[in-house]
Amino acid sequence: MVMKIAVLPGDGIGPEILVQSLKVLKAISLKFGHKFIISNCLIGAESIKKNGLPITQETINICKSSDTILLGAVGDPLYDNDPQIKIRPEQGLLELRKHLGLYCNMRPIKTYKKLLKVSPIKQSFIKNVNFVIFRELTSGIYFGKKWRSQDEAYDTCTYNKDIIKKIAIKAFETARQRKKKITLVDKANVLETSRLWRETVKEIAQKNQDIKVDYIFIDNASMQIVLKPRQFDILLTDNMFGDILSDEASVITGSLGLLPSVSFGDHYSLYEPVHGSFPQAKGKNIANPLGSILSVSLMLENFGLKKESFLINRAVNESINLGITTQDLNTKKSCTTSEVGEFLFTSILKKRKRIIKKNDNIKSKK
Ligand code: IPM
Ligand code: MN
Repeated sequence: MVMKIAVLPGDGIGPEILVQSLKVLKAISLKFGHKFIISNCLIGAESIKKNGLPITQETINICKSSDTILLGAVGDPLYDNDPQIKIRPEQGLLELRKHLGLYCNMRPIKTYKKLLKVSPIKQSFIKNVNFVIFRELTSGIYFGKKWRSQDEAYDTCTYNKDIIKKIAIKAFETARQRKKKITLVDKANVLETSRLWRETVKEIAQKNQDIKVDYIFIDNASMQIVLKPRQFDILLTDNMFGDILSDEASVITGSLGLLPSVSFGDHYSLYEPVHGSFPQAKGKNIANPLGSILSVSLMLENFGLKKESFLINRAVNESINLGITTQDLNTKKSCTTSEVGEFLFTSILKKRKRIIKKNDNIKSKK
């Protein structure tokens, strides 16, 4: 397969984790003979430095003409500490999501047995957790009208039925392949936009009665997520609630550095880890590359390369089981970002004996 990938390393640890993801892609291309054509582009603070803008039309054009997009991270403390600055790195990512219509962001949350002890939450609570956050990504308070005077400011949260319907339908389709259960997270006791979400999701639920739909307020959801996370399978929610809940949910898994994500629109897709630019770790070779590498695995799976995705997941499992992980997961003897990448590269390319399943054996004896 030939695949054109726009690679946007961005800021902070973005570039160094993407180096490891590209190493993993290299292993896959060597093993299977696929050709990944990479176009590097600027976004975020790096783009402001060079072009004065957090994203340029050129980057957007390259993204549009590629089969998919791999993104590192955006953000720089230089901007966080100055509320007066008008041009910010994050605007690049938001503009890209909006421009490409990437309304459906999926963030899988699952626990690894070996990492249960890394989470500060009791192991019995988080064993076998496996759910997906469906976060709307192109509307809501992130994109509504904003205003600021000397002493006052507002951000408005806007939604239309069309976009809620689109992401909800994707959640229903996924639910049908999973546990047939969706939990809508909102604040319908207070917010008008949440009432529109509830009304819209109820209409879809009426037509899809094989899927069980629960409704929960965001304040309760943020408690339930740490108290009883196994009750969830698909959490469907708006842009801001999804942003907050996904960072919270990462605590269950042991590290924010582990979480992958994919964002879909009607025409484009973008793969990025959930973690941000983590400026404190920049250039130290300590950042966890697995969030990005698992995003690559999701990408290959969604492009129909199931075996390839399986091999990446198997290598990641192997690294976790052997403790070949970065310091966020491994307090005793941790590995560097590049050591984890090297291990995965070798593990993917390693020749293994075919494991004959019991049933295969019986068949071949007959
Ligand atoms: C995320 C990030 C972004 C967001 C920032 C970098 C704009 O936190 O993808 O979760 O808030 O959406
Ligand atoms: Mn976030």
